Formats: sequence, C-alpha cells, structure tokens
Amino acid sequence: LHDSGTRAKLFTVRSALWSLSKAGDPGARLMSLQPGESPYPVYAAVRARGELVRSKLGVHLTGSHPLCQEALRDPRFGVAPISELTRIDFDRHAGGRRRYVQPVDDSFLSLNPPEHTRLRKLVAPWFTPRALRARTELVERTVARELDELARRPRFDAVTDFAVRVAISTITGLLGVRTVDHDRFVWWGMTLAGTLNGVRTMGEVRETRAVLGELEAFFDELIAHRRRHPGDDVVSRLVECEADGRPLERKDLLATAQLLFVAGFETMVNLVANAIVTLLDGNGGNGDGDDGGNGGGGNTVRHRLAADPQLAEDVVEEVLRLDSPVQYVARVAREPVELGGHRLRPGSTVVLLLGAANRDPSVFAEPDRFDPGRPNSREHLAFSAGAHFCLGAGLARLQATTMLRELFRRFPALASAGPVTRRPSRNIRGVIHLPVAVRAPS
Ligand code: HEM
Repeated sequence: LHDSGTRAKLFTVRSALWSLSKAGDPGARLMSLQPGESPYPVYAAVRARGELVRSKLGVHLTGSHPLCQEALRDPRFGVAPISELTRIDFDRHAGGRRRYVQPVDDSFLSLNPPEHTRLRKLVAPWFTPRALRARTELVERTVARELDELARRPRFDAVTDFAVRVAISTITGLLGVRTVDHDRFVWWGMTLAGTLNGVRTMGEVRETRAVLGELEAFFDELIAHRRRHPGDDVVSRLVECEADGRPLERKDLLATAQLLFVAGFETMVNLVANAIVTLLDGNGGNGDGDDGGNGGGGNTVRHRLAADPQLAEDVVEEVLRLDSPVQYVARVAREPVELGGHRLRPGSTVVLLLGAANRDPSVFAEPDRFDPGRPNSREHLAFSAGAHFCLGAGLARLQATTMLRELFRRFPALASAGPVTRRPSRNIRGVIHLPVAVRAPS
C-alpha cells in the first residue's frame, strides 16, 4: 500500500462523506460526526426517518430496539466486521478494497457458527458465574490497592490513574501476562479502539500498523512462555488445546488472546468513566449537557451511592443503557431476509445502532433520563444479543460495580476538578481524561 494512494483515498472518502452528510444521508451523518461529538441527535434523526433506513453508503441503519434485537438473534444474519462502515466508504467511494487495519477481524467476534462456537467455547469457562465468583476477591483487592494509592493524593485522573489500572490488572491477570507495562498497554488500547472508527489520517495508519506489530510480538512471546510454563490462565489453556489433539492454529490463538485484550479493556474503562461523569454531573447526568438534561439525577444518586452500595449495580446498568461504550455493530444478511418491512438481499449490511436502541422510547420510558433502577433496566443492548452476546458481560459488571461502589465509599466528597476529555471516537463512547479532586473545592 503506497502512502500517496492512501492519502488520495482518505481525501476522496472525506469529500464524499461531507457532501452526502450535507444532503442529510443518515449513514454519512453518522460517519461525519466529529470525534467525541454526541451521536444522540443523529440517532433521533435516523429514528424520525423510519425503523430501518437506507443510506447512500450502501447500508441500512436501524436505531429500533426490536429490530436490533431481531437482527442480532436471527442466524440468517452473520457478523460484519465493526469496521464495515469504514470499508464501505473506501469500497464505494474510492474504489479501494484494501482492509487497512482491524485487530479483531480475525477473531471469533468476526466469525459465524460453527467456527465461532468452537473458539468461543474454549474461553467460555473463564466467564461462567462460578469463575466470576472466584475472581471477585481479586477484583476487590485490586480496586482497594489502587484506591489506597490514590488516597495519598488530593487530585487524580479517574480514567488513567484508576479505571485503566484496574481494567489492565484484571485482563492481564486473566490472560496470564507476567509483567505489565501500563503506559504501553494504554497506548495499544487507545490506538486500537480508535481503529473501530476507521483510520482517517496517515498518522493513524502508521501508528496502528506499529501497534499491531507490537501486539503480535507481545502475544507471541506470551504464548511461547506459557507453552513452557503453563499457569491457570486463558493463554495457557489455549496452548493446551493445541497440545491435546485439537490443534489450535497460531492465528486463532493469537486472535483470541488479542480479542480478549481489546474487548476487555477499552470498553471496560469507558463504562466506568461514563458512569463517573454521569454521577459527578449536576446538570444533566449525561455528561454532555446536550440531551435535554435529567434534573441533576447523577449528582443526587452519587450521594445515595455512598450510603447504599447496592445502588452501584443499578447505576452500572443505567449507564450501559444511557451511554453505551459500544455504540453500534454491523450484521450482513447471509440469505434473503425481511427486516422491518424491507426485503434484504444476501450481502446487505445493516448497521445496528445499539446506542440508539437503548434510547428507543417504545421500550424505555423517558429514555434520555438517567434513572437507575428503572423497571426494565436490563433490557438494554449494550452487550449486544444473540450468538455474539458479550462474553465478558459478567466480568464487566463485576469490575464496574466494584470500582464505583468503592470509589464513592472511600471518597464521598469526590468532585470534578477540570474539563472532561472525550474519546475521539464514534463507535466507542467514552472518556480519556477525567480529573477529580478527593475533596470538593471550598
Ligand atoms: C463482544 C460490549 C466488556 C469480551 C461484545 C459485543 C459488545 C460488547 C457490544 C458484541 C459485538 C457484536 O455483537 O458484534 C462490551 C462492553 C463492555 C465489554 C460494553 C464493558 C463495559 C468486555 C470484557 C470482556 C469482553 C471485560 C472480556 C474480558 C468480549 C468478547 C466478545 C465481546 C470475547 C466476543 C463475543 C463473541 O463474538 O462471541 N462486547 N464488552 N467484553 N466481548 Fe464485550
């Protein structure tokens, strides 16, 4: 791939998107969102046009909760890589067929049954309720250790100094990583999460290639180590699978380990960060101030949270719904199928706007309001549904609940101490920096 060719394609794509977006095309409007910009007004516009709408980018989009659920559960739809929209830009408007970078495209997240089932089964034992109970104490200890450190400081960054550190400890422990270089992991996670948007600049193309190279070398080394010194961790188990008659190819081993790292780290951090932003926000609870507000719900709840730690579970569910870390996934029709009154041909792609489905007024009353403990709080699609339902949902809930409960128990007067830096991403909704003070400023 020549850099000048890439540059020209990036330029063509950007111009095409701009004109389509100006003309009101829903797909182009979504793709033209500025990094970190609230997507909710675009979702409302998509919903106003119908349950399932067609974009000139060559895809259908839906923000309807029932339709998203239907497509996710229907085996006639297969997975389309999360990068599908990006590839469509390139394919339709720049004539390119090149897959730039997509770290999870080779993993079981991007496979259909029966390959999907075979690989998912191998790692599923680490995510059963029993396995989670065994991990609870470790998560609690990790959170307590990080909070002990933070208690010495008047201010800290709730993302980089807290959520990231707990999430990295958990996922590396699960994978059997020996030495953890936090800064490096953060850089990998940030860069790879950025690719879920599609790469837009030459700098991003180069950086992503560099990270993918490092990640592969890192996991190759880990796999070699665990082959010699097996432990009670996912990578050791995957290596064993290779040894006991059902050989796992290197590419599957590598892709599975990378998937767990990528899927289990960024989304996790963003959930906790979105929750803290919501809880500290006295003006609206959505952290944006652009969704109509909810009468300062976040601020009130956070005071109750210190007294009622069980409330943390409700907060986690409600933040998953209101500000989902993964905003959309894509599916492709594998055979002729009808969805929302439209006949879709095989190969048709549907972008399922999970973040919009989670605010569908036909399912959630007053959907823009932060309302922990709402009766149907678990009906959200933040963890997707069907065959690809998030394998780490239980672990995510455990970590997020423990982090929020303990953070606000230790620091009941926690207050915002500076501007929130939103993640420059459309698909991954989250925060990069969140400065907080342990005591409210007097
Ligand atoms: C799949 C969200 C945390 C591991 C998914 C999918 C979503 C998601 C939406 C499905 C994508 C699709 O349908 O195409 C989230 C969110 C999380 C989170 C919002 C945190 C708040 C985790 C954690 C782990 C994890 C902590 C593991 C340590 C996975 C795996 C898949 C997956 C392995 C692929 C499942 C499959 O394809 O069968 N996640 N996730 N996730 N997630 Fe999560």
